[in-house]
Amino acid sequence: MSHSEKLAHTMPYPPATPQPNVYPLSWHAGTAKLEEIWDASLREAWNPQELPWDTFDPEDYTWEEREAIAYWWTLLSVFDASAPPVFAEAFIKTYEVHEEDAVRRCFFSVTRDEQNHEQMCGLAITKLLGHPDPLTYEPKTELGRKLHRNAAWLYYNGGRYWTGYKSAVPKYDLAVLFSSFLMGEIAAATIFHQMAAGCTEPVFKEAFRNIGRDEGRHMAICMALMERDYPKMDTTNKSIITKQVRAGYLFLSAVLFEPPADFWDLPEDFIAVQREAEAVARDAGFHIPEYDQKKENWRKAMLNLKGVLDKYDIPFPAIPEVGISGEEVTDINMKDIIPVF
Ligand SMILES: [Fe+2]
Ligand SMILES: [Fe+2]
Repeated sequence: MSHSEKLAHTMPYPPATPQPNVYPLSWHAGTAKLEEIWDASLREAWNPQELPWDTFDPEDYTWEEREAIAYWWTLLSVFDASAPPVFAEAFIKTYEVHEEDAVRRCFFSVTRDEQNHEQMCGLAITKLLGHPDPLTYEPKTELGRKLHRNAAWLYYNGGRYWTGYKSAVPKYDLAVLFSSFLMGEIAAATIFHQMAAGCTEPVFKEAFRNIGRDEGRHMAICMALMERDYPKMDTTNKSIITKQVRAGYLFLSAVLFEPPADFWDLPEDFIAVQREAEAVARDAGFHIPEYDQKKENWRKAMLNLKGVLDKYDIPFPAIPEVGISGEEVTDINMKDIIPVF
C-alpha cells in the first residue's frame, strides 16, 4: 500500500494501527498507588537553583578539598547524568505499550526528577571547580591531577553503556526493566539518606535530602508495578532478571562501593586515588561512607532486593563480594546492562 493511497472512501472504519505505536489515545486507570505517587511527586517538587546557595562559599575549602568533593559529584554524574535520557527512553516505552495513564505520568516524574539530580551535580561541580566541566577543567593540585584522570576513565566506562541500554529497552518487557530500575533506586535511596545525615554543608545536606526523597518515590513506583506484573510473569523473564541483578551490582558498585576490576576498565591505582580523595572530602565535612560502611550498606540494599524477588520466585544471583550466596552468573558485559540510578 502506498502512502498516498486513500482508504477512507473504500471502508467505513480505518484498518488497525500497527503496534507498538507511540500513540495510546487511552487513559486507563488501574493501580491506585501510582496516583498517590504522582501526587506526591508534584507536592515534593524542588528546584536545585533555589537551594540555599548563598550560604555556600567554595572559598571556605582548600583547592584540594574542592577538587576532592567535586570528584565525588563527578562520580555521581557518571550515573545521574545518564539518568534523564535513560528514563526518557523508558517513558517513551510506556506510551508504546499503552501503559496505564498513571504509569506514564510516573515515568515522566522520574525523568523530571533525574533531570534535577543531574542539574544538582552540575551546580555543585561548577561552583566547586569554578568551571562547568570536570573533563576540561585544569587541576590545581597533585590530587586534582590524579582525580582528573580518574574522572576521564569513569566517563569512558559510563559511555560504553548507552548503546547497550538503547538496544535493551525495546528487547525487554517493562517488567524486566523494573527490577533493574528498582535496584538503582534502592541503591540511590540508601546512599543519599546517608550523605544527607552526615554532610555538614547546608546546601549539600538539603540537596541530598531532596534527592533521597525522590529516589524513595522511584522505588515505590517500581514496587507498585512489580506487585502488579510479577505474579503473572513467565520464567524466561525471571532468568533475565537474575542476570540483570548481577550486572546491576557490578555497574552500581562503582558509586555505592568500589568498581570491580573485571567489569570496569580502570587504571591500577584508580581505587587508591579515589580513596585518597574520599578521605580529604570526609575531613572537610563531606560525608562519604567508609569502606566497611559502604560494603554493609550495599549488602543490605542487595538483601532488600532479594526479599522482593524471593516473593516472586526469581532466583537471586550470587554476590560473593558482599557475602550473598545464590545463582552463579558469569559473562556480564557492559552491553548487557540495564541498571540506572
Ligand atoms: Fe537520581
Ligand atoms: Fe532515581
